[in-house]
Amino acid sequence: MIMKLNEIPIDIQETLKDLGVSKLYPPQLEALPHALNGENIVLSIPTAAGKSLIAYLAIVHRLRSGGGKALYVVPLRALAREKYEDLKNFEKLGFKIGISTGDLDESDPRISKYDIIVCTSEKADSLLRHGINWLDKIRVLVIDEIHLIHDPSRGPTLEVIISRFKALNPKTQIIALSATIKNAVELADWLDGKLVKSDWRPVKLKEGVFFKNQIKFNDGSVKKIKGDAKKSLELLVEESLINGGQTLIFVNNRRSTVSLANKLSDIIGSKLTDKEKKGLKKVLSYIEHERVENVSIVQTLSSCIEKGVAFHNAGLSNIQRRAVEQGFKDRFIKCLVATPTLAAGVNIPARRVIIRDLWRYDANFGMVPIPILEYKQQAGRAGRPKYDKEGEAITIAKNSNQRDQIFYNYLLADTEPIYSKLGNQSALRMHLLSAIATNFVNDIEGIHRFINGTFYSYQSDTYAMEGEIDTALKFLLENEFIEQIDNGYISTLFGTRTSSLYINPLSAVQLKNALGKSYSKELTTLSFLHAICSTPDIRSLYLRSADSWVEEKAEHLHGTLLLDLPNNSSQEYEWFLSDLKTAFLIEDWIEEIPYDRIVSKYNIWPGDIHNIAEKAEWLLHATREFARMYNFSSVSEINNLIVRVHNGCKHELLNLISLRGIGRVRARALYNEGFKTVNDLRGVPLERIARIRAIGKAIATSIKNQIGEENKGNKELGEF
Ligand SMILES: Nc1ncnc2c1ncn2[C@@H]1O[C@H](COP(=O)(O)OP(=O)(O)OP(=O)(O)O)[C@@H](O)[C@H]1O
Ligand SMILES: [Mg+2]
Repeated sequence: MIMKLNEIPIDIQETLKDLGVSKLYPPQLEALPHALNGENIVLSIPTAAGKSLIAYLAIVHRLRSGGGKALYVVPLRALAREKYEDLKNFEKLGFKIGISTGDLDESDPRISKYDIIVCTSEKADSLLRHGINWLDKIRVLVIDEIHLIHDPSRGPTLEVIISRFKALNPKTQIIALSATIKNAVELADWLDGKLVKSDWRPVKLKEGVFFKNQIKFNDGSVKKIKGDAKKSLELLVEESLINGGQTLIFVNNRRSTVSLANKLSDIIGSKLTDKEKKGLKKVLSYIEHERVENVSIVQTLSSCIEKGVAFHNAGLSNIQRRAVEQGFKDRFIKCLVATPTLAAGVNIPARRVIIRDLWRYDANFGMVPIPILEYKQQAGRAGRPKYDKEGEAITIAKNSNQRDQIFYNYLLADTEPIYSKLGNQSALRMHLLSAIATNFVNDIEGIHRFINGTFYSYQSDTYAMEGEIDTALKFLLENEFIEQIDNGYISTLFGTRTSSLYINPLSAVQLKNALGKSYSKELTTLSFLHAICSTPDIRSLYLRSADSWVEEKAEHLHGTLLLDLPNNSSQEYEWFLSDLKTAFLIEDWIEEIPYDRIVSKYNIWPGDIHNIAEKAEWLLHATREFARMYNFSSVSEINNLIVRVHNGCKHELLNLISLRGIGRVRARALYNEGFKTVNDLRGVPLERIARIRAIGKAIATSIKNQIGEENKGNKELGEF
């Protein structure tokens, strides 16, 4: 039994040193004997307590004694990257480390060569659906942030992965990493594992409430901060900066991230050293090339970053978010204002976290208080071992009464228990179909066995559960995803394809019906775009009062849309208009309307355009598969549309876009100068190409290199 670091094999010790580990923390010492013994474990220990390290060591230990693979499942791509970079340190011990977060409709043979694979939960689910042949080689399954089982959109997938592994591969060791939750014992019992619970945190995290120039902390201490009491946030940020600390502020909406970052940039900008200003220039250079498009948000972000402040939310592009995260990690960005997407698991140097909003908007209930678990996750970003000796998480009260309330409701409160969300029909249909389509189950007993292995079954009453299963099966039978033969079920071709395409069965039915109408309609690009935007897999845009243009345009679309138009006094009509608005957005994107115009017309963010385009491409891909399957003639139109949505341009640019570094803006500039294909660029002097708007010398050189006409100075440049 290992109790000290020096009892671990020397080469592993060396690797741990590279990770900054010179001794093991008490919860790690408590958990390790069980983890190394091959037991299933649930670690319900505080933020920053080093849960990942226990998983890393268990993996290394187990794979060394007997080979095999490990799967490390995380909820977010950003977290996948962080864990992947940590695990890369173990390559020198002979392990091959891979990461897979991308395309869901492939079995990804590339990743089969890795020993340790980091992936998102959706990717893990998709791998199971494609019947990967190395499934039985997986000896350790790590589920990070397992408390997300509670999340309605991601939770069901998470528990289904675990249940299927438990059934298919009972010898797989399951290591579940959780925030401290009230019913962790239930999770451990469900997983048949050892529960390691602790309150210990390596870096002291003081939680406090600020009111009238005083932070009152949960350890009884009080800190006074002088200054204008009405400007609490500014005072907190400034005081932290003067003491050499960085601040992370969580707010409940995207717009606030920008307005607050702008507001704070004057305070911070004036206090930066020359070295810091130089570092910030480097951060700016990461997003510089995004200026090709997407101008105003890059300008706002850039002017904040110049002053040592940044904002972070899901509306930014991936590149922008990564630049901001890295700039904060490198300690150049002193203050970051973010939405709670940044609260899960990441390690960042925030000595002080300010949780500005303890309320957030909920579409069904209006403003609701955030759960304690979410508060604790946000607070837990402060004081991370790699970066700070102490952390502070602070909320701001308007009066002493509110301060006491916050203390009672959050600081001193226990986190809530978590509950399965698999009982939701939409989730149940999707996962039952996948289980039948992959032959994991093929009769009602098998289905019950499968569901009995889930956390849902562990928590819910059998009678209600059986009713839900029956309803879901009925839906699958009626819509011909599955068939009943003898006493069992098999999936139809439609069912199998829907499962492997990784789309909601309801979307599949809608797309199939839409295709069925394609013969009787006058087809346009919008016909298909509207059909995919009507599925539950794309979240449609809100309809605002200023959007009456959508309805006006709708009146001219009769005869072209593939779905029946609802009566215009019904609720469905509102939804129809929302879907149509979303379809118009994609149409604008492929008609090369500039980012800024799309952003203001639809009241969205650049990141939303990407997300919607990515989803749209995916659903068009599914539509094309169904068109092929049922011999519809629209395959080539859909093909065309897929490439256009991928690149955001008209068909005529597709040839030029095949060049690296050439996106829709540069391709359009070349095209307008008469260079309509890659061939047209042959023999043209480099200087001539470099003079074209948005091209310049570096890109022109890269083009020349790619067509084999110039060999020097090939500098790869990307275009957004
Ligand atoms: N024994 C140790 N000595 C020094 N540093 C450690 C040790 N164990 C872990 N760390 C470091 O502590 C940091 C936090 O670890 P980790 O991300 O695993 O926390 P966590 O428990 O998963 O927190 P969260 O709940 O916020 O996800 C990491 O930077 C990690 O490298
Ligand atoms: Mg973690």
